[in-house]
Amino acid sequence: MIFVTGAAGHLGRATLNHLLTTYKVPADKIIAGTREPAKLADFKAKGVHIRDADFNDEAALTKSFAGVTRLLIISTSSMEPGVRLKQHLNAVHAAEKAGVKHVIYTSMPRPDTSAVLFAPDHLNTEKALAAAKIDGYTVLRNNWYCENLLYSLPQALQSGTQYTAAGQGKTAYIGRDDLARAAASVLASDKGGKNTYTLSGAKEYTTDEIAKLVSAATGKPLKVIHVPVEGLIQGMIGAGLPEGMAKMFASFDVNTAQGGLAGNPADFKKLTGIEPHSFEDWLKKNVAVFAAPAAH
Ligand SMILES: NC(=O)c1ccc[n+]([C@@H]2O[C@H](COP(=O)([O-])OP(=O)(O)OC[C@H]3O[C@@H](n4cnc5c(N)ncnc54)[C@H](OP(=O)(O)O)[C@@H]3O)[C@@H](O)[C@H]2O)c1
Repeated sequence: MIFVTGAAGHLGRATLNHLLTTYKVPADKIIAGTREPAKLADFKAKGVHIRDADFNDEAALTKSFAGVTRLLIISTSSMEPGVRLKQHLNAVHAAEKAGVKHVIYTSMPRPDTSAVLFAPDHLNTEKALAAAKIDGYTVLRNNWYCENLLYSLPQALQSGTQYTAAGQGKTAYIGRDDLARAAASVLASDKGGKNTYTLSGAKEYTTDEIAKLVSAATGKPLKVIHVPVEGLIQGMIGAGLPEGMAKMFASFDVNTAQGGLAGNPADFKKLTGIEPHSFEDWLKKNVAVFAAPAAH
């Protein structure tokens, strides 16, 4: 049996779709785990099993993982300091206790050297997985989603100005659906072992290059203004963001400037047999969403 945690989230749903459609896994071999079963009524109707999966409750999670062979642990969305790592450790320990054979975990690129403030959550989850008594694991170090731009750019497009401390650092953006395909490929295979893959788009882009492409696609001017990281933090606080969030977002730029989001296109092809979609293709499909920011 294959188990997908976080199944009601964007990546979880897309992974279920790839399991069913791309990899033709029979629905009754798939368990979708979530805190919100009502959101998965469409998959239930297709014959996918639905179970509770809240990483805050290790004992309940252990029961939910009973009989599971391959498990995808999707990192949670909690930004509360300390909470997310605890949730991930609960999931790893529950998998170990339930006798899951192979665990797949969605991490981030270079968590050991990354300047991103939440990188230790990923690094320590990876370490817990390596230390657990589980036959095998696959770490998927997912690069930044193209979809992240749907959160950060609409406001900049409205004002015509984007502030960055990322300098000439490049990001190898990859579409979330491609990452779901890669996760589904590992779930659907019977490959064991202990492996780590870094999944990213085929090309890397600076903030200026992305702004130019998005500006051309939307027909809206977008000027990138390079500022020091302290100035970026103060600007975000001035715009009403809590200090902790401002520092978190600024750490993304520091990491990008340091090359933390550079690409490694070979790994995606190794898992899926195909190239990831290009950023330009993704932009063409999503350009309308930039005009309607609430729709992502
Ligand atoms: N690489 C990137 O650029 C990037 C960007 C954004 C996020 N992420 C990470 O990738 C994950 C998946 O992305 P997404 O786009 O699918 O995020 P999303 O749509 O915001 O979904 C949030 C996910 O967190 C899960 N979750 C939250 N609290 C949980 C808990 N207590 N126990 C178990 N699961 C919990 C949700 O599961 P249910 O609702 O089904 O319970 C859901 O799968 C995110 O949670 C985040 O860790 C990566």
